[in-house]
Amino acid sequence: THVVAEPCMNCKYTDCVLVCPVECFYEGDNMLYINPDECIDCAACIPECPVEAIFQEDDLPEQWSSFVELNAEKAPECEVITEQKASLADSGGDCKNAD
Ligand code: F3S
Repeated sequence: THVVAEPCMNCKYTDCVLVCPVECFYEGDNMLYINPDECIDCAACIPECPVEAIFQEDDLPEQWSSFVELNAEKAPECEVITEQKASLADSGGDCKNAD
């Protein structure tokens, strides 16, 4: 599966949702999550994220390993998101990786 990691927090650029062929992104308050039961590992979302927050699980940097479980836990509790919206970075959020 693919995993949304720490760089998404307080950013939520949402470019990723536009390319997902199976609509497996779910919106939390501060970040998006991928539902591992739905992700087909196409990898289309990886280059779309401007802050490089998305990884194939096997390529996930060690310091973000807890995000595997977090995505699996949170995605089913959140609403699916399929349309882009204004990022938190643009609305004054504390997006650490914003330009
Ligand atoms: Fe987050 Fe990147 Fe998508 S910041 S919402 S994973 S485009």
